[in-house]
Amino acid sequence: MLINKERRINIHRLDETPVLDQKSKDLIKEYLKIESFYKFALREVSAKVENLDDYCSMNFSHNPIHHMEARLKSPESIIEKIHKRGYEYTIESLKENVYDISGIRVVCNYIRDIYMLIYLLEEQEDLEVRIKKDYILNPKESGYRSVHVVFQTRVTMSSETRWVPVEIQFRTIAMDMWASLEHELRYKSKYELDDEANERLRMYADELYKIDTNMQRIFIKSTSEGDFND
Ligand code: GTP
Ligand code: MG
Repeated sequence: MLINKERRINIHRLDETPVLDQKSKDLIKEYLKIESFYKFALREVSAKVENLDDYCSMNFSHNPIHHMEARLKSPESIIEKIHKRGYEYTIESLKENVYDISGIRVVCNYIRDIYMLIYLLEEQEDLEVRIKKDYILNPKESGYRSVHVVFQTRVTMSSETRWVPVEIQFRTIAMDMWASLEHELRYKSKYELDDEANERLRMYADELYKIDTNMQRIFIKSTSEGDFND
């Protein structure tokens, strides 16, 4: 199941938006001219991932994907990232530095589903891996786990072809549960989390990882004995 997170900015009302300065507005206008490349790339890569889920279901009688979400980063968030990172306010710098405009979150059932999907995507001729960060192998200080892969895909519109980056975050259901609650606690709360809360969150992430590996063990055992899928 693919959940599309839609948002729109009205280009005609952009000049009336008081919170954005002129160089941000100019950059957003330039970006909106090429936004459709990011939208097409997002759609194409989402379809590829969904097709792989069907492929696995047909060949291995197992759906690796629990659900997925796809979203285009809003122009305001793109500007925020450029500002925070100190990048130049040019379309070239945006294309070069912001690689999570097209973003997909793939929530898998088991840890090994994540690595199988990445392997199958890497095999595809029209996708290239640009960046891979394995936060399952090397969890973040917070306890966060996921594998982030930035793929490049070729998008052709009329006579123009561009390579467009698409970031995919692969997680298990347990990792996704932890990440969304931790994000809520960390960014939506009025208070900063104290050392004890941070330590607990890290501990719970480790416990969920143990549960993930144990659930996977049961799954592997049940399928190898042939009694899982009839
Ligand atoms: P940004 O995408 O600009 O943040 O930089 P980056 O790509 O260098 O960083 P990173 O690889 O850490 O990926 C950032 C994304 O991963 C965030 O937008 C979150 O979705 C997720 N993420 C990273 N660390 C954490 C964490 O500690 N907690 C939660 N809940 N999410 C995290
Ligand atoms: Mg990122």
